[in-house]
Parts: sequence; structure tokens; C-alpha cells
Amino acid sequence: MKKKPLVVANWKATKTIKETIEWVKMAKPKLGEITGIEIVICPPFTSLPFVTALFKDTRVKVGAQSVSRFSDGPYTGEISSAMLDGLVDYCIVGHSERRRNFAETNEEINAKIKNLSEFKIKSVVCISNLNEIRSLESVRDKITAVAYEPLFAIGTDKPDTPENAEKMAMLIKKSLGEQVKAIYGGSVDPSNVAKFTRQPSISGVLPGRASWNPGIFLDLLEAIRLNDQTA
Ligand code: PGA
Repeated sequence: MKKKPLVVANWKATKTIKETIEWVKMAKPKLGEITGIEIVICPPFTSLPFVTALFKDTRVKVGAQSVSRFSDGPYTGEISSAMLDGLVDYCIVGHSERRRNFAETNEEINAKIKNLSEFKIKSVVCISNLNEIRSLESVRDKITAVAYEPLFAIGTDKPDTPENAEKMAMLIKKSLGEQVKAIYGGSVDPSNVAKFTRQPSISGVLPGRASWNPGIFLDLLEAIRLNDQTA
């Protein structure tokens, strides 16, 4: 049987602290009941302490959306891995929006993964092509999951096909090892999520927009759960 699916909710640059607390209040009772899915909520930095405190003593995990490539020091505006230690279990690294808007390079991404691993924070690394997979080979033992997120599918309501996502998941595992979870992201929603999680090499999903509304996010988790029961 396939292992517990991993669902990484990427809130991106949305939600004030007040909106965050409302989301958690609405979702928490149901989220707390879900056992068969590893749920990771990734709010913006400003909300992290609140979300972590609100989900304390539940199975729900919290993640950051990025981290500095530097350790503590004279790097104004940066958040280091040491600062995330104790606050998060996971961190998204190398999202295409960061590669594109903030010119993050493969080298910087590898430095972030190394820093996170020193604090045992699990890296969920986003890639959109084969070169980006290859660039992770030297840090493969420090990565928990790699999310295949094709650029055309992010924020467009045009997901990749489950078959193509499965092929990429197989390539991720072939080049980085079976220990790395391969997940899919890009226009995942409650109606299509099970088509992805059903694929043999895909271990989960990374929804953006479908995680911003608590009702839609709970529907997405329910669709995974129902599919697992029938699989
Ligand atoms: P989307 O975003 O689900 O809104 O397409 C996914 C992502 O950017 O990770």
C-alpha cells in the first residue's frame, strides 16, 4: 500500500494574521480528525508563530514558504533556518515564483537545503524541469520531497496530465533516490486531486489556491481520503 500522502498547502503572499486565525478556527476541528494524510500548512512568515501555536498538540504540521540561504548575520530582512527551528517542521524551497521574481539560483537553493537540514527541517523542493532535478543530486540525502510544478500549470487552472506528472515523479525518484517523495503541484483542486495521488510514484500534492479557502481545502483532503479508501 502507498504511504501516507503528503499535502503541502502553499498560501503564498496571502492572509493577514486576522485572516489566518479565522482560517485555522474554521478548519481545525475537521483537520484534527484526519489521520491518513500528512498535512502541512505553509503560511507567510508573519503568521507562522500563530499557526504553529494554534496547531500545537494536533497532527497538522506547519511549514515556511522559503528561508534565507545565509546563516544568522548581517543580512537585513532575511529569515534564517535557525529562526525557523522549533517553529516549523517543513520548508518549501525553490518555488518557481521565487526563482523567477527573486532570481533564486540552483546553487542558492542547494545552500538553503543544507542549512535547513542542519536544523532537521524537512525540505520540499519545487522543480519544473529536468535540469532543476539534476542540480539537486549533491543534496539528495537532505531532501524530504520534490514537487514537480510545471510553469504552465501554476495559477492557471490548467494542470498537467496525471500521466505526465507520474513520468516526472519516476524521474525524480530515479535521479534522487527512492527515499525522496515525489509530489505534484499546479492547479490541483478537489475535482482533480485524486487523479494525481492515485499514480503509483506520486506521494502527494502541493496546492496553492485550493488551500486558501478552508472549505475547499477540506474538500481536497476528503477527495484524497475517499480515493485511498477505494484504492
Ligand atoms: P496553484 O499553485 O495550485 O494555485 O496553481 C500551486 C503552486 O504555485 O505551488
